[in-house]
Amino acid sequence: MATLLAGLFPFVCNPAHAVDGGPVEFNRDIRPILSDNCYQCHGPDANKRKAKLRLDTEADAFRDEAGVRPFVAGKPSESEAYRRITTADADDLMPPPDSGRALTDSEKELVRRWIEQGAKWQNHWAFIPAKRPGFPLGQARAGGWPLNVIDHFILDRLRAGQLAPSPVAGRRTLIRRATLDLTGLPPTPAEIEAFAADSSPRAYERLVNRLLASPRYGEHMAQAWLDAARYADTNGFQADRTRNQWHWRDWVVDALNRNMPFDQFTIEQLAGDLLPKPSLGQLIATGFNRNHMLNGEGGAIAAETQVEYVVDRVETTGTVWLGLTVGCARCHDHKYDPISQNEFYRFVCLFQRTAGARRRRHGAHYQGAHAGTGGQDQATRDHAGRAPSRAQSALGQVRRRA
Ligand code: HEC
Ligand code: HEC
Repeated sequence: MATLLAGLFPFVCNPAHAVDGGPVEFNRDIRPILSDNCYQCHGPDANKRKAKLRLDTEADAFRDEAGVRPFVAGKPSESEAYRRITTADADDLMPPPDSGRALTDSEKELVRRWIEQGAKWQNHWAFIPAKRPGFPLGQARAGGWPLNVIDHFILDRLRAGQLAPSPVAGRRTLIRRATLDLTGLPPTPAEIEAFAADSSPRAYERLVNRLLASPRYGEHMAQAWLDAARYADTNGFQADRTRNQWHWRDWVVDALNRNMPFDQFTIEQLAGDLLPKPSLGQLIATGFNRNHMLNGEGGAIAAETQVEYVVDRVETTGTVWLGLTVGCARCHDHKYDPISQNEFYRFVCLFQRTAGARRRRHGAHYQGAHAGTGGQDQATRDHAGRAPSRAQSALGQVRRRA
């Protein structure tokens, strides 16, 4: 198979870095060079900055300061930074020889090619919107591949790494893998025999559909989300008392089994209570915001525990929905952190308004699954005790059902 593939795919590119003549990517190829060799003196730290030059922001890297331009798209000979890394004059050379740093020839070459190719800057990869990739067309078949549209993309990557698709697994292996993957459980002996004996070309499709329809599917898929959303059946801390958070857990399992779209899954958990005429399920969904630990210690200081709860909500929401760990910004700004402390506390402010967030007796106040992002009105009314909270009425309904 290896020889066959080599014949089929004479052009092989290594996806890990730009090959000769291939496109140079700023984030993959250039940023690491600048970061390792230049940012110490031309980076975000204003106190350590030399020659008032920054090379970590696009505007500065392309600035024109009295005719000196660090990078000029398409023109290495006019790019002062390129001249500085290639000059024979030790007085001008960058990084300065006494810094103990030096660029290799291939790094200099990459910088030259990047400039020649247009010196395209990229922001931090996490903030580049995902783009639908072009469809990898016109590929030769290999080992019976591709079988479906997704295979085209897999085959494309395999080809880039000079790999061949693995042979198709036998029936007994296949049902075991698919069942464990989709339900977390092994197939029963009867299921294995039935699948092994099913010679229909649609047997595998039917197997997958049966597994997707199984309630075990949602239970299995929920696990990763429950972990990310810090689900627990007890409150944590010293007494670690039991809590009735399983209503929310069951909501997640059910949402996955019903194949709820991710946007709805998000809306209901973050702010289901703010939807027009929210259903009981939509109220329970907001239990996401109450998955943090609860401190029932007698001497706990209410204001302090409340801050901890709200910070937990901010950090978890940042991590699971923004894909961004924002927690470091709680106490101070960082040179490389795109989230400032100021922004962290603006986020805190949002959750500070959450219904129930201001109750005083933190050991006793935890009543049930619900805590939406909530409107301030609701929170204020709850606080003043003038209206029963939606949390209480939702819990009442759950209790009546249970
Ligand atoms: C240890 C500190 C240090 C490091 C590391 C360093 N530089 Fe410099 N750089 C300086 C100093 C000091 C100057 C001002 C003196 C001079 O012009 O030679 C300077 C000046 C420059 C200038 C000229 C700025 C102007 O306006 O004239 C450029 C361009 C430059 N550096 C690029 C780089 C690049 C690219 C790197 C990494 C490959 C780098 N430097 C790494 C200290 C450093
Ligand atoms: C609970 C508050 C708090 C949080 C959260 C926090 N820090 Fe800090 N950080 C501090 C304090 C206080 C100092 C100063 C310590 C000292 O000077 O002894 C510090 C110092 C630092 C320093 C040294 C700065 C310097 O100039 O010497 C770095 C780097 C740092 N923190 C990074 C981080 C990172 C990364 C995170 C997230 C993983 C983080 N911090 C989260 C409170 C915090």
